[in-house]
Amino acid sequence: MEAYTCIRSKRDSRSYKSDSIPEETLQRILQAGRMAGSSKNIQPWAFVILRDEARKKEIAGCGDFAKHVPSAPLVIAVVLTPGGGPFDAGRAAQNMMLAAWDEGITSCPVAMHKQECAAEALGLPPEHRVAIVLSFGYPETEASLHRGVPRTPLAELVHQERW
Ligand SMILES: Cc1cc2nc3c(=O)[nH]c(=O)nc-3n(C[C@H](O)[C@H](O)[C@H](O)COP(=O)(O)O)c2cc1C
Repeated sequence: MEAYTCIRSKRDSRSYKSDSIPEETLQRILQAGRMAGSSKNIQPWAFVILRDEARKKEIAGCGDFAKHVPSAPLVIAVVLTPGGGPFDAGRAAQNMMLAAWDEGITSCPVAMHKQECAAEALGLPPEHRVAIVLSFGYPETEASLHRGVPRTPLAELVHQERW
């Protein structure tokens, strides 16, 4: 898929086929996350892969809007190591979701509202935290991809020289 098309057509969706993600595709997704730039290039992230049903259910219990997570064949928790900021994690996460979408795999970022619960579920070392959990899967239906609210028009977002 052409890069701009990939960016423009990517929407977050929450219903997936049960088909598993091939290993080489998973590696591609992880490489895309790894290649993100970060403040001072400290690369303050680690990725925890969850495919086991019980582990996915456990992490889903740490978010307030995460019911769909156990149904995703692949879940990746983006963990911030000490010194990392949410912007760093966001770059890695979006890279992974776009690389997946390029392979026809849809995804959704999921917030972990209960941070201690998420850290415990993943067995994180001290000072590490879950920035975001990403659920991935092949779209269940074409229709499930188009439920989002439209984006704000550029005319309302863009300012010239000053606000
Ligand atoms: C930081 C962040 C946290 C999010 N947390 C959740 C979440 O906990 N559960 C969920 O279902 N979607 C979550 N989302 C997905 C948003 O709901 C989604 O990006 C937004 O509705 C736009 O969706 P669209 O791309 O399909 O239009 C989150 C998105 C971001 C960027």
